[in-house]
Amino acid sequence: MPHIPWDRLWTGVNLATMTDPSMGIVRDGAIACSGGRIAWVGRAADLPAEPERLAAEVIRGGGAWLTPGFIDCHTHIVFGGDRTADFRRRLLGESYADIARAGGGIMSTVRATRRASNEELTVRAAARAAELSAWGVTTIEIKSGYGLDPGTELRMLEVAAGLARHVPADISPTLLAAHTIPPEYADRRREYVRLVVEEIVPAALEQDHATAVDAFCEGIAFTPDEACAVLEAGMAAGLHGRLHADQLSDLGGGALAASLGARSADHLEYLSPEGVRAMAAADVCAVLLPGAAHTLGADRRPPVGALRREGVTMALATDANPGSSPITHVGMILNLGCILFGMSPEEALLGFTAAAAKVLCLERDRGTLEPGKRADLALWSVADPADLCYWVGASPLASLVKDGAIVVAGGGNTKWPLRRVKTT
Ligand code: NIG
Ligand code: FE
Repeated sequence: MPHIPWDRLWTGVNLATMTDPSMGIVRDGAIACSGGRIAWVGRAADLPAEPERLAAEVIRGGGAWLTPGFIDCHTHIVFGGDRTADFRRRLLGESYADIARAGGGIMSTVRATRRASNEELTVRAAARAAELSAWGVTTIEIKSGYGLDPGTELRMLEVAAGLARHVPADISPTLLAAHTIPPEYADRRREYVRLVVEEIVPAALEQDHATAVDAFCEGIAFTPDEACAVLEAGMAAGLHGRLHADQLSDLGGGALAASLGARSADHLEYLSPEGVRAMAAADVCAVLLPGAAHTLGADRRPPVGALRREGVTMALATDANPGSSPITHVGMILNLGCILFGMSPEEALLGFTAAAAKVLCLERDRGTLEPGKRADLALWSVADPADLCYWVGASPLASLVKDGAIVVAGGGNTKWPLRRVKTT
């Protein structure tokens, strides 16, 4: 019996490898995996032998497009309760900030989350994660931030990490204890910041689920100095820094993230030109969240043109959360990234793959189709990758591969006529 080098080989596929700004397109491509990693990528015509001699299983893609599994690098999908009441109030004219100041908003979710059991949080979050999975997502960042006390923040991180047992995705939990000041500390802000720095950050490190620390720097949340104290504490202990920055006003959040050496600044509707330059100089990624801008009817857009000109890495994410972005439809986010924020389809799709991997410090492991990287793959029944951004409908995911194993098969749809590809 001759040696068969690979576990699985896909031919008859077009590849968006995400290795360059044009998405590293390889038409009439082939990709193989072994031991959960990508073993070979290239043109099918360059395969070293007949497919059947090369892999234990050969899958013919019929002209579909294959991308890296999507990476949603900014979500808040673990929470209790819902925020339909906020939604109705906003429709009647109240602003997100007014509702927050009146005790609704994030705090209403905090109350519901504190009351919810781990089991209840898990069941609900797993359903949301499954919706992301149906859109090809194989890595999900999930933030805490609806506990705002040591016990509930740690429970949220534990529930988040545990979701990997329920969906075919890796979870990257982020500590966001600095999401808002809880009412019991309303007159003692410094004490809450001290609690986060001295108790919650060390406890999260001890628990060993969180890989990043985040803070909401905004008029209705934390001042730049407070956010700085929290990020410094977490980053000194080895967590990657993230910052909710310049979403509703310009507090210099982008520049703050840059001065701290944070990995990303997220939202950025009010990012100033100096903030753009500071982020570029410090190689801080911009995480763009058009779901929140859309849901809250934001009057500003992030400066995508300036970010592009300065060469800032732009990631795109759902920001799935009950208040400002109740959206797990990645296709809609890709569409909003293009239509609302002016990203190109290439930028939007790179934003959910290579750029998102960089935000999570996982760029050496995933986010592109290259030998050695994790075999997390999404196969799409689309005629052009831009169809993923253009049409807002059901997910055209045809199959999903996690660590080399096929976890969803036989899906997809027939809306787009697939171009025939040459197969070997
Ligand atoms: O990313 N901006 C702050 N945090 C979340 C919203 C959380 C909520 O409203 O529950 C966001 O948009
Ligand atoms: Fe957020």
